[in-house]
Parts: sequence; C-alpha cells; structure tokens
Amino acid sequence: MERRQLLKTSLAFLGTTTLISFVYPVSKFLVRPKSSVPDAPLTFNKDEIPTGTAKELVFNETPLVVINRRGSGFIALSRVCTHLGCLVGYDKFNGKLVCPCHAGEFDLEGRVLSGPATKSLQRYSLKITADQIIIG
Ligand code: FES
Repeated sequence: MERRQLLKTSLAFLGTTTLISFVYPVSKFLVRPKSSVPDAPLTFNKDEIPTGTAKELVFNETPLVVINRRGSGFIALSRVCTHLGCLVGYDKFNGKLVCPCHAGEFDLEGRVLSGPATKSLQRYSLKITADQIIIG
C-alpha cells in the first residue's frame, strides 16, 4: 500500500469515527424511548402539601410540581420550562416558578411572567377527594 493511500484511509477512518461519536449521543438525546406501559394514576395525601408549599414528583416520565396555592387550591404543572426544557423550581417566598437556566419566571397558573419563554407551563388535571389528590 502506498503511503498516500494509507494516509487517506487513516483520515477517512478517523473522520468517520469522529462523526459517529458526535451523531450517536445527539440522536440518543433527541429520540426518547417510548414507554409502552402508561403510568398508573398517582395518588397522595393532601396533608403532604400544606398551604403555600409544593411537592415535586414524576408522572408519565414528566417532572411535575403540585402546588397548594393560598386561596386558589391545588394545581399540577409540568416543571419542564417551555423555553429550552430546564426544570423550573417553586419559589415559595415570591410565589412563582423560576427557571434556573435563563431566569424565566412563571406565575402559579403556569403563565409566563418574564424571561425568554413564550408559552405557559403545561397544566395537568387533578382529582381531589376528601383527603387525597389523584393525577392521571
Ligand atoms: S430554559 Fe427556562 S428560561 Fe430558558
């Protein structure tokens, strides 16, 4: 094999492996595996979330926050920020949800208050019984 041909083959091999090492992780990140089994309804006691506090949980592979709002009762919102997908957190002192990535802020209905997001957080329906909260 000529030296030039060996160099071309080596460069082609390195280029291909480099491309694969970038494309594979990106494709695994972008394509989420589908779960064939839907999650069972999530049930927990109302007492777990006193007024003015929140509980973080995962339902159908989506991080949620259930908030017990003063005067407005319970609400379940996705924690996935509608800007670029970071997880928002409940700021109980200021009564809003805050995204740590780009300082996006949402009110306790999930509506955008400020920041780069333009869509509200996704809301999940709740069933509330005498002492329990059921999602799903
Ligand atoms: S990802 Fe939440 S504000 Fe950018």
